[in-house]
Amino acid sequence: MLNLRETEKEFLESHVIEGGTAVDFTMGNGNDTLWLSQKIGSTGHVYAFDIQPQAVARTAERMKAEAPFDNYTLICDSHHKAAEYVKTPVCAGIFNLGFLPGGDKSVTTLRETTLPAVETAISMLAPKGALLIAVYPGHEEGRLEGELLQKMISTLSPKQFSASCLRIVNAPDCPFFYLIEKNK
Ligand SMILES: C[S@@+](CC[C@H](N)C(=O)[O-])C[C@H]1O[C@@H](n2cnc3c(N)ncnc32)[C@H](O)[C@@H]1O
Repeated sequence: MLNLRETEKEFLESHVIEGGTAVDFTMGNGNDTLWLSQKIGSTGHVYAFDIQPQAVARTAERMKAEAPFDNYTLICDSHHKAAEYVKTPVCAGIFNLGFLPGGDKSVTTLRETTLPAVETAISMLAPKGALLIAVYPGHEEGRLEGELLQKMISTLSPKQFSASCLRIVNAPDCPFFYLIEKNK
């Protein structure tokens, strides 16, 4: 079966431009923050957001030990406020929605902040930049987030964006992702 965590990176990788600005909108344990830091290079910068101090602390430790460059800023705040912190156009952004693996499952991303956060993230994209959003419909809030995002994303102008979805159609509870690419 398709491994979502690996496949999503294959789709986003060509957009992570050395020297660019990338954003991890859901830092969690820092896997995506670390990957972006490695790919964006010493002249690029990664901003990462999480509302849980525990996630920020865990990621800070991990980055200190494993990140090849000091090219990241970890922010303990909600991703819908990203534009207050990131002032340069974004070449690559990633949302892994849901709850912190191994953490408190009741602290999950929620529709009321996820929708404005994704809308903000889209507005921050550089020409040819891309946003990847992984949705986890196996829990109720994740299923509803997916439905809401599908509605919004399908209204994006094809003149400005190419919006795709990769989903295992015979296993509707499996995670899936959207890739939103900004045209030139
Ligand atoms: C599935 S985890 C992310 C996994 C992470 N990308 C990794 O590599 O480990 C989702 C994370 O989103 C965080 N989160 C929930 N609501 C948020 C919000 N409004 N803004 C930023 N992060 C949020 C949760 O605290 C959780 O750590």
